[in-house]
Amino acid sequence: MGAGKSTLGPEIARRLGRPFVDVDGEIESGHGAIADLFRERGEAAFREIEARVATDVAARRDPVVVALGGGAVETRDLIERSGMFVVHLDVDVETAWTRVRGCPRPFVEDEGEFRRRYAQRRPRYAEVAHAVARDADDVVLAAAGVAVAVGGLELLASTIPGEGPVALVTDPHVAGIHGASAQLALGDRLASMHEVPAGEGAKTPEVAERLWRELRLDRRGTLGALGGGCVTDVAGFAAATYLRGIPWVAVPTTLLAQVDAAIGGKTAIDLPEGKNLVGAFHWPQRTLIDAGLLATLPEEERREGTAEVVKTGLLAGEALWELPEPELVRRCAAFKAAICLRDPLDRGERAMLNLGHTFAHALEAAGGYERVRHGSAVALGLLAALRLSGRPTDVVEQTLDPRPVRVDRDRAWAALQRDKKRGLVLLDDDGPHWDVRVDDVDVRRALDALIAD
Ligand SMILES: NC(=O)c1ccc[n+]([C@@H]2O[C@H](COP(=O)([O-])OP(=O)(O)OC[C@H]3O[C@@H](n4cnc5c(N)ncnc54)[C@H](O)[C@@H]3O)[C@@H](O)[C@H]2O)c1
Repeated sequence: MGAGKSTLGPEIARRLGRPFVDVDGEIESGHGAIADLFRERGEAAFREIEARVATDVAARRDPVVVALGGGAVETRDLIERSGMFVVHLDVDVETAWTRVRGCPRPFVEDEGEFRRRYAQRRPRYAEVAHAVARDADDVVLAAAGVAVAVGGLELLASTIPGEGPVALVTDPHVAGIHGASAQLALGDRLASMHEVPAGEGAKTPEVAERLWRELRLDRRGTLGALGGGCVTDVAGFAAATYLRGIPWVAVPTTLLAQVDAAIGGKTAIDLPEGKNLVGAFHWPQRTLIDAGLLATLPEEERREGTAEVVKTGLLAGEALWELPEPELVRRCAAFKAAICLRDPLDRGERAMLNLGHTFAHALEAAGGYERVRHGSAVALGLLAALRLSGRPTDVVEQTLDPRPVRVDRDRAWAALQRDKKRGLVLLDDDGPHWDVRVDDVDVRRALDALIAD
C-alpha cells in the first residue's frame, strides 16, 4: 500500500506496450469497495476473491502488466503458482504512510497497525519478487532482464541464471583491466575464456567460427560477453547460432554498449560488403550494467557513447546527458529497453533509434569506415536531423562539439541514398517521427553542411 502501483502501473504498461490490469480495481468493480468487503466479510474472504481475480489475470494469453496488492503475499503460493514475473515496488514506510493516511482502506485507520504490517510483509516481498524497483525505469529494465548496479560485476555468478558452466568472451584490453575480477566473480562456474580482437576486428565470420569451434558448452551452459559493443555483438551472435542458440549474458564495459549495443537483442558480425550484414535477434538472458566499469574507459571511447546518450535524450525529450553517469546510464538503458520490448524485431517504432544515423552511416561509408569515428559521425548526423526538424542545435554543439569531416561529398550522398530507403527520423513537438520523406534537395544540403571543404 502506498508503493505507487496505481500511478506507476499504467505508466509501465504504456512503456512496455501492454494492457494494464489493477487487481484491486477489478475486485472493486465486481464486489464493491474493498474497505466494505473487509468489514462485512473479513480478510479471509477478501483474500479468496483476490486469489481468484489474480489467477484469472495470470491465465491470460497475452502478457499484461498487473498491479497486485502487497497483501497478496499473505497467500503467497498464489504468486508462486501464477508464473508471473514479480517486481517489488519498494518504498520506505514513511513515504507509504504519507501516501495512504486518511484513505478509506483496510489497515490504514491505525498508523501502528500499518507499520506492523509493513515490517511483517517486507521479508516476504524479498522472497517472492524476481526484482526490486523504485520507479518505472527500474521495472522496464527488470522486464528486459537488465540489472543495473555499480559494483555489480562482483555479483556476476548470481546474475547468470542457473548453475551451469559459463564460457566468457572478452577482448585483450578488457581482459587486462576487468578480466581477473570477472573470473573471480564467476568462480567455479567459469568453464573457459575466449579472447577476440579489440574493436571492429572482432566482428568477422572468422572470429565467429573460431568461437563456435572453441566452445565446449551444451545447452545448459551460458556464454558471457564482457566488453564493448564489438564483443557483445560477436559473442551474442555466436550464442545465437551455436547449437542453434544457447543463452548468453552481456556485461557491457563501454558507455556505448551500456546505453545501446548490449540492450535489445540485436547481434551481428560484419562482411566486407558492409557492417552488421549477418546477425540474429537473440535477447540476452541477462544484461549486467555496472557503470563502475566505465572508470577505466579512455576519453575518446566515452565520446562515442555520449553521442548515443544525447540521441537518447533528444528522443526522450529530457536532458539525460546532464545526469551523473550511473543515473544517465540507467535512464538511457531503460529508454532503449522499452522501445525494444515494444518492437523486438525492429519492424516499427524501433526505427526511431536511427535518429541522425542515416547521415552518420553515409559519412562513415564515405570515409571508408576508418577516417570518421562512429561517435563523431552520429554527432554530425544529429545536427543534420535537428536542422531538418527545424529545431535548435545548441545541445549537440555544446555537448558533442561536432566538426565537419573531410570526406568525398558524392560518395557520402551515394551512401546516404542507399540507406535512406526507410525514410528519415525527425523530431517534432510531439516527439520523434520515423519514415519521414524529405525532399532530396534539402537532405543533400543538410549532408553537405556536415562535410568540410
Ligand atoms: N547490437 C546493437 O544493437 C548495437 C548498437 C549500437 C552499436 N553496436 C555496435 O557496437 C560496436 C561499437 O561498440 P563500442 O564502441 O563499445 O566498441 P568496442 O567494443 O570496440 O570498444 C571500444 C574500445 O574500448 C575498449 N574498452 C572496452 N571497455 C573498456 C573499459 N571499461 N576500459 C577501457 N577500455 C575499454 C575496447 O577494448 C575497445 O578497444 C560497433 O560494432 C557497433 O556496430 C551494436
